[in-house]
Amino acid sequence: MSTSSVVRVAVIGAAGRMGAQTCAAVEEAEDLELVARLDAGDDVGAGVRDSGAHVAVDFTVPAVTEHNVHAVLDAGAHAVVGTTGWDDGSRGRVVEHLERVNAERGDEGLGVLIAPNFGLSAVLAMTFAAKAARYFESAEVVELHHPNKVDAPSGTARHTAAAIAAARADAGLGPSPDATQDGWEARGADVDGVRVHAVRLRGLVAHEEILFGNAGEQLTIRQDSFDRASFMPGVLLAVREVGSRPGLTVGLENVLDLS
Ligand SMILES: NC(=O)c1ccc[n+]([C@@H]2O[C@H](COP(=O)([O-])OP(=O)(O)OC[C@H]3O[C@@H](n4cnc5c(N)ncnc54)[C@H](O)[C@@H]3O)[C@@H](O)[C@H]2O)c1
Repeated sequence: MSTSSVVRVAVIGAAGRMGAQTCAAVEEAEDLELVARLDAGDDVGAGVRDSGAHVAVDFTVPAVTEHNVHAVLDAGAHAVVGTTGWDDGSRGRVVEHLERVNAERGDEGLGVLIAPNFGLSAVLAMTFAAKAARYFESAEVVELHHPNKVDAPSGTARHTAAAIAAARADAGLGPSPDATQDGWEARGADVDGVRVHAVRLRGLVAHEEILFGNAGEQLTIRQDSFDRASFMPGVLLAVREVGSRPGLTVGLENVLDLS
C-alpha cells in the first residue's frame, strides 16, 4: 500500500451504526475510496478480495469479528478492528496467522490494528493518566455512561485503571491511602488496586474522570464523548496507518505520536 495513492477500503458491518458512520467518513476522505460495504450474509473473504480492498474495517459483533479478520488476511488485506470481545487467545491466533501470511509475502507484510476505543479524547485521557500516575499518592477513576450500557465498569475505565496501577507499581508506589473499614461496597470496583466508580444516568453518553491527589493538590483529567462521530478521526487514522505497521497492533495510543 503506497502512502501517496488512494487507499481502497472495505467496511464489514456496513449496515450497523459504526459501520455506516465509517462508510460515510471514508467516502468524505479524499485519500480513501470505499470499495465494499459488507454485512451479515456476505462472504467477507470474497468481498474483500473481489473489491481489491487494501484495508478492511470491522465493526460487527464479538462472535464473528475474529473469523472476519482471518478472512481479510487470507484475502490479502490489512484489517482495522473496532469490535469488542477480543482476548489473549483470539489475539494470539491472529498473530500466528500474520506470521504465516507475512512469511509467504515478499513485501513488508500485512497489519491488523485492534482498537478497543477509537475516541481520541478517551485514548489521550488514558495515556495522560498513565503518565501522571507515578507522581500522585492517590488515584481513582470515575466513568459515567447512559443507562442502557450493560457492562460496568466500562472497558475503557478498566484499561485506564490497569495502566495507572502498572505505572504506580513501576514507580514503587504502594496502595492509595484509604482508612475505610466498613462500607467497601461504596468504594467502587477494585481494578489492580485502583478504585473505579460507575455512574449510570439518563442524559449521559460516555465520560471518564481520572482523579489524582497529593497533600494540598489535585489533578483531574476528564474526557467526554457525545457522539459516534467522535470515533471517526481515530478510525481514519488507523486506516491510513495500518499498512505501514506489519503484525498486530493493539490500541490507538500506539499509532498516535505521543512521545
Ligand atoms: N472501538 C471503538 O471505539 C468502538 C466504538 C463503538 C462501538 N464499538 C463496537 O463496535 C461493534 C459494532 O457496534 P455497532 O454499534 O455498530 O453495532 P451494530 O449492531 O449497529 O452493527 C453491527 C453490524 O454487524 C453486522 N454483522 C453481524 N454479523 C456479521 C457478519 N458475520 N459479517 C458481517 N457483518 C455482520 C450486523 O448485521 C450489523 O449491521 C460492537 O462490538 C461495539 O461494541 C467499538
